[in-house]
Amino acid sequence: MKISFSEISLTKSGALAVAVYADRKLSRSAQAIDKKIGGAISKALKNSRFKGEKGQLLGLNAPAGVSASRVVLFGLGKVAEITDLKLQAVGGKLAGHIGGTGESQLAIIVDAERGKVGGVSAADAAADIAYGVKLGSYRFDKYRTTEKPEKKPSLKSVNVMVKGAAAAKKAYAACDKIADGVICTRDLVSEPANILYPVSLAAEAKKLSKIGVKVEVMGRARMEKLGMGALLGVAQGSVREPQFVVMQWNGAPRGADQKPVAFVGKGVTFDTGGISIKPSAGMGDMKWDMGGAGVVVGLMRALAGRKARANIVGIIGCVENMPSGTAQRPGDVVKSMSGQTIEVDNTDAEGRLVLADALWYTQKRFKPKAMIDLATLTGAIIMSLGHVHAGLFSSDDDLAKAIYKAGQDEDELVWRMPLHEEYDGNISSDIADVKNVGRDGGGSITAAQFLKRFTNKTVWAHLDIAGMTWSKKDKPTVPRGGTGFGVRLLDRLVADNYEA
Ligand code: BES
Ligand code: MN
Ligand code: ZN
Repeated sequence: MKISFSEISLTKSGALAVAVYADRKLSRSAQAIDKKIGGAISKALKNSRFKGEKGQLLGLNAPAGVSASRVVLFGLGKVAEITDLKLQAVGGKLAGHIGGTGESQLAIIVDAERGKVGGVSAADAAADIAYGVKLGSYRFDKYRTTEKPEKKPSLKSVNVMVKGAAAAKKAYAACDKIADGVICTRDLVSEPANILYPVSLAAEAKKLSKIGVKVEVMGRARMEKLGMGALLGVAQGSVREPQFVVMQWNGAPRGADQKPVAFVGKGVTFDTGGISIKPSAGMGDMKWDMGGAGVVVGLMRALAGRKARANIVGIIGCVENMPSGTAQRPGDVVKSMSGQTIEVDNTDAEGRLVLADALWYTQKRFKPKAMIDLATLTGAIIMSLGHVHAGLFSSDDDLAKAIYKAGQDEDELVWRMPLHEEYDGNISSDIADVKNVGRDGGGSITAAQFLKRFTNKTVWAHLDIAGMTWSKKDKPTVPRGGTGFGVRLLDRLVADNYEA
């Protein structure tokens, strides 16, 4: 999708979109177009359910009097209630609507009053609409070789028109990079597991070196030397070699705090459950069990892309969890890099085994000022929070609050769940220091309690994104499929809390 900005003009060809506010109040440009097309907008509004409410769309085909082949009205609702998120949703909706019409070009007019659209500056408003277009028009269609052209979205280029186009273009620059990160994550989680496995996932991460990220990839031998017995135990049933990837973006300016913030992702490229095998129904979903790692890669791409002024570490532990003659068995005891021994009571609780070594490695090598992991860790978090909030676990109130706020601001919601040492009894083992599954319920919490043991008292938060990584429902800026949930959230967390 080509996205550009220009000053307002009513002489565009292709589709032309203009705003209508609550109670059918036409924006300035809508009024001007209405005049040119002989009052056709006013007429269409009289007998229509379209009232200018936010998210509403109404198309007028082939109006005489303008060069545009179609005029689309988009509702913005009450002016005082317009926010950046609502503008992004408008962009996403418009792209979706126009993509189904056959039009290849869309021009969107952003009318401002005294430089503002509601509470948003004109430049930001235009940037937000463009951001919504880019996020909302995402599609993973590389494996559809026989799709008819008329089924494919037709929209190819979008021009956002606003007074002060240069400022809008500037405001959009960062959004564009963040969207690239989100799209990168969506692509990674959408890939099937025969294409995306530990080595190919690491290779994707390696590509970030083109934009200034330092990337190190370790294989089995290196991990054996480091003593990552927990991660390696998961990997041992698969013919695919595990990979451990360390990404570094050093954007902190001289004189600023150099201590990094670290993000750690679960990269299980396919989770069969191992010997504790999962039922076959729905097992295909487990191709996106590398969702946490996908977010870390996409986030690094976003941060490096927009040259974030902070030092950031991204770590992903990549394995495939398979049953085989070499697979680990329930009851096996493994030794983690931390030295703690773990009884593998259930080979399907593998994510925490991978993260145990990844978290330990991260805090030991980088001593980060904060360490945040993301994982599609438990089905239980879907029982608790459904597909609306990710589970947030942290013993640090300030970090938890900062993540919560970033989530509200980006509409990537998180809900804080408890940590408490009384849950530790659920995972005590008769043979080892700890076991990898609990009893007595609270499955997401015992998983988090397990992870906590490998954080060595570093300021830490855990996001259980099992319910958020994949969506069966279309939303204006998040088409169904891989969502990229977490990239915008953590990009915002960095921007608001850790940048110089
Ligand atoms: N990857 C799964 C969790 C999951 C389930 C993610 C559904 C997304 C959708 C994880 O490895 C797992 O299998 N967890 C088990 C833990 C259990 C064995 C204690 C679970 O949630 O059932
Ligand atoms: Mn599992
Ligand atoms: Zn898993």
